Amino acid sequence: MIIPVKTQNGSYNIYLERGALSKAGEYFKLDRKVLIVTDSGVPVEYAKTVAKCCKIPVIVTIEMGERSKNMDTFKELLGYMVENNFTRTDCVVAVGGGVVGDLSGFVASTFMRGVDFYNIPTTMLSQVDSSIGGKTAIDFMGYKNIVGAFYPPMGVLIDPDTLKTLPKRQLSNGLAEALKMSATSDKDLFAIFENDDIEASIDTIIERSLRIKKYVVEEDEKEAGLRKILNFGHTLAHAIESANDLEKYYHGECVGIGMLPMCDYKVRERLLPVLKKLQLPTNTEYTIDDLLEACRHDKKASGDTITIVYVSEIGNAELKNMSFEEYEDLVREGLEFDPNYRETVNLKQNIVLTGMPGSGKTTIGKLIAEETGMKFIDTDEEIVKRENKTIPEIFEESGEKGFRKIETEVIADISVVENAVISTGGGAILNKTNIDMLRENGRIYFIDRALEDIVATSDRPLSSNRTDLEKRYSERYELYCSRCDKQIKISNEAYSNMKIILEDFYDENTCD
Ligand SMILES: NC(=O)c1ccc[n+]([C@@H]2O[C@H](COP(=O)([O-])OP(=O)(O)OC[C@H]3O[C@@H](n4cnc5c(N)ncnc54)[C@H](O)[C@@H]3O)[C@@H](O)[C@H]2O)c1
Ligand SMILES: [Zn+2]
Repeated sequence: MIIPVKTQNGSYNIYLERGALSKAGEYFKLDRKVLIVTDSGVPVEYAKTVAKCCKIPVIVTIEMGERSKNMDTFKELLGYMVENNFTRTDCVVAVGGGVVGDLSGFVASTFMRGVDFYNIPTTMLSQVDSSIGGKTAIDFMGYKNIVGAFYPPMGVLIDPDTLKTLPKRQLSNGLAEALKMSATSDKDLFAIFENDDIEASIDTIIERSLRIKKYVVEEDEKEAGLRKILNFGHTLAHAIESANDLEKYYHGECVGIGMLPMCDYKVRERLLPVLKKLQLPTNTEYTIDDLLEACRHDKKASGDTITIVYVSEIGNAELKNMSFEEYEDLVREGLEFDPNYRETVNLKQNIVLTGMPGSGKTTIGKLIAEETGMKFIDTDEEIVKRENKTIPEIFEESGEKGFRKIETEVIADISVVENAVISTGGGAILNKTNIDMLRENGRIYFIDRALEDIVATSDRPLSSNRTDLEKRYSERYELYCSRCDKQIKISNEAYSNMKIILEDFYDENTCD
């Protein structure tokens, strides 16, 4: 499907089609030198697939996360273009979420005063929101999006198949923006959120959201009026985000909560169950007073009154100017509406591998990391790094007890990391606290490899003593079984083992 977007700054097409990734060359002019920008969290296959369509591809993978949207990475990308002799007639393609899109769009807008830019958004948020509208930016000196340009892409390619690998929580994060657009502008789309199977309706949701955003940006490219309705839920969302030091909540999650007070009671009654259906939080641990304080802080910069987007009935939004006192009343009423809706988000972000030494955790873990772009962490390696001693040295100096204590400290630090494959030392399961911490943010796999196979392939000193190994195996087997979320009986085929684990993980945690 082609959705044309026409603005004063430039016109372009949005191509929305499953499987379109491998056809990028049909839609974009890629028979030239192409800087493909992606990040370490985006499955590397996507950039590689696009590269196959380019005459001279140069793939650059930046660190995933908002922190990469900065001046240093901006310089780094321009550096790549200079070093690789890019010219005015070459181009930049973003393959990733809003971070990659915003950053590489800005790079394209400045290199030689502007080269062609194409966007291939791969997150829900970027597919329905950030990839269109022509805003590009980086964060600077602690301010979000403060340096940037209006620089429309030459084309946007949306392949919903890429969402298959997106963690469920990220999916809901983007859907919150789509839900926002439906509440202000499309009651039929809102009804889809209410009544239909969301996963089965993804293509329709993307298309309808795109049409809303297209209409809004065509009417009001530079945010003089109408475009403000895209800010529905955002005033309070920004307050939550500024209270949210630990970045516990994603932007869309904050928008979900932020919409609740800014609408009529009847709208709120319909909005709450949809947020719940999307597994979005409907409240935070911050008190209403804390949030109002953050709003007040924001408001100081902008004057006595506050303009909010208010939804009086689903599908219709208006701008309302009010005093801060009126705004406070609205927020209190909206957030106290249903205290029972205090929900926490807990979708797993990490894959945790447990099992006997020699069961192949490292090999499989590294394969998973390579395939998904997740970070690979080995707890034993972290211990060695931290103590600056080998494991036998630690055992010798502090005994097994001392080692286990360090192990637990290291696991406590690792457990809060997101998007990681964590391979644990063979004895990590002995302490239930370790597993409980890892489970907070991860799904625990028991890599169950037959003792015979371990013995056959092992060159580890421990396994040289077969009876010792057998003893450990029988002692720990039950623990491995009872403390994991999923037991995987594995073969000697590392690649297919990796696939089995990933399939299970995505089944549990993503939309497919
Ligand atoms: N330009 C605009 O108009 C506009 C509008 C809204 C938001 N934004 C910006 O967008 C950014 C947020 O975008 P986002 O939510 O897409 O975040 P993001 O780009 O950080 O992506 C979220 C995470 O998903 C991973 N990922 C991306 N695609 C994946 C896939 N297909 N499978 C698995 N993992 C995948 C990424 O590596 C990242 O870790 C913010 O910087 C925000 O300021 C811009
Ligand atoms: Zn937003």
